[in-house]
Amino acid sequence: MGLQEDVATVLVSEQNIQARVAALAREIEAHYTDDTPLLLVCVLKGAFMFLADLSRQLQIPHEIDFMETSSYGAGTESSGVVRILLDLERNIEGRHVLIIEDIIDSGRTLQYITRNLRTRNPASVKVCTLLSKPSRRVIDVPVDWIGFEIPDAFVVGYGLDYAEVYRNVPFIGVLKAEVYE
Ligand code: IMP
Ligand code: MG
Repeated sequence: MGLQEDVATVLVSEQNIQARVAALAREIEAHYTDDTPLLLVCVLKGAFMFLADLSRQLQIPHEIDFMETSSYGAGTESSGVVRILLDLERNIEGRHVLIIEDIIDSGRTLQYITRNLRTRNPASVKVCTLLSKPSRRVIDVPVDWIGFEIPDAFVVGYGLDYAEVYRNVPFIGVLKAEVYE
């Protein structure tokens, strides 16, 4: 019994995720070498697990903060409308902001968040996403670090949900068709 039995295909294994997160951390460390404070902005809820692992891997000082947006209902299709449900606790002026996302699909959420954060005068805004579905992109928004490019399929696990469930599955997978019935 268990959630993992609802998964038809594993797209990215737990081991591959962990190896890639470590590699991303090395690239990010190499990029942020000045004395400007670094703030990781975790986009809730999907990026919480990625943020936790990436933050632990990073060997440079950084703060974390959280933001939640909504563009989806309970289903698997974007509504196209982005709203802020939870905003950052602190001022980001003069800080390097690194947005931590779970997945870039249409690009609408990311475009909204980057534009919004840029108006607050940070030192820089960059983006690190665990997953990207390039074939689904509607808005061409720049992404600085990508963990894995994946095909056009609705995925769950490692923070990503279907109807708020499956976030705790430790790998990235595609659900069996009967789960949606
Ligand atoms: P976008 O605005 O279309 O780029 O959608 C981004 C957000 O939609 C992500 O942060 C996820 O929360 C959600 N999302 C997009 N694709 C998937 C998926 O395959 N599984 C789970 N959530 C997804
Ligand atoms: Mg979601």
